[in-house]
Amino acid sequence: MTTEVYRLSPEDIDSGIIQKAGEVIRRGGLVAFPTETVYGLGGDALNSEASKKIYAAKGRPSDNPLIVHIAEEDALIPLVREVPEKGRLLMHAFWPGPLTLIFRKTEMVPPETSGGLPTVAVRMPVDPIAAALIRASGGYIAAPSANSSGRPSPTTAEHVVRDLDGRIDMILDGGPCDIGLESTIVDLTEDVPVILRPGFINEEMLKEVLGEVKLDPGLLDAGANAGIRPKAPGMRYRHYAPKAPLAIVEGEAREVTEALKTLAGKAILDGKRVGILASDDTARDLAETFLPGMPGAAERLYLCPAGSRAEEQTIARHLFAILREFDDAGVDLIYAESFKTPELGMAIMNRLLKAAGHRVILAADAISEGDM
Ligand code: TXA
Ligand code: MG
Repeated sequence: MTTEVYRLSPEDIDSGIIQKAGEVIRRGGLVAFPTETVYGLGGDALNSEASKKIYAAKGRPSDNPLIVHIAEEDALIPLVREVPEKGRLLMHAFWPGPLTLIFRKTEMVPPETSGGLPTVAVRMPVDPIAAALIRASGGYIAAPSANSSGRPSPTTAEHVVRDLDGRIDMILDGGPCDIGLESTIVDLTEDVPVILRPGFINEEMLKEVLGEVKLDPGLLDAGANAGIRPKAPGMRYRHYAPKAPLAIVEGEAREVTEALKTLAGKAILDGKRVGILASDDTARDLAETFLPGMPGAAERLYLCPAGSRAEEQTIARHLFAILREFDDAGVDLIYAESFKTPELGMAIMNRLLKAAGHRVILAADAISEGDM
């Protein structure tokens, strides 16, 4: 299959292209499209054959349900058994936007779309290209992130081409995504709503609207929670992992910089190529104080600044692209700074810990081992 790619300007959307893409989806085909979070791989959510094609194109297990994307709030009504009051509050506060809500589903949602679950995930994106495409496609688009299963979610059309070229009908290129991390998922089927996946809409923002919100204990894969399975099936799979092993270096900023120098120095002396994912602040420090004095570092250190520590949105926006870059650069191992930033820290660290398979190094330990 030849995948057609069309460039679209979010400010001046070409309606001819949108109509063409809408027709592809109406007749059961697949179109990747931009949203404010990440690129989605869209098919008709009410057509079970289209959902099957989505799983096949991504190489995704079919028990991992898809999110249904709508463009009007009223479109929600026939999909779900009821809209709890807390759901209304969240929709009012955050739709259209990067928030996915889980409801009990009706017969209208085919089991293929909901991965066999009695519930359905629904989201109303704010991205104007996404909204136009949903309207042109009949109002219901099932769309997982448009990566092949296990890879980081795509934040540019080029990422989608890399993963899915030849496997889908069309890609709409609307430029890089604003947020760069997938939507927050909140489960409304329990009395107290539960965050199943952290995202741009953070715990604080949800609490402001709801008063009370819980965090899925399966997300905190440590201590007493170790071994509890996350409720969102997709959160259980290995994900985002670059080909090279990745470890997160945790500690106070100065210590982390020192630890990165120790760890990277050791690897470079061993003849390895090292990738470093760091804040601009740390990267600048490494470039000034480490690179010049370290023989071999210029060729063997692949330093990727994600954004300044004070601008967490920039770090979030660049995270997935950098994880993909490490694969292209062919590094042997990767160290990442820990980003426990105030607002997006939970969402960023959730993705990074998955990418690292939860490998965390304490900066203080790395420094003291380096001294021995
Ligand atoms: O930002 C986003 O949400 C992007 C864009 C394209 O909208 N989409 C996205 O879809 O991230 P996907 O399929 O990559 O992730 C959806 C997640 C998976 O972890 C899936 O298991 C979970 O949502 N999910 C879907 N339906 C669910 C349900 N009924 N109950 C629990 N989890 C569900
Ligand atoms: Mg995904």
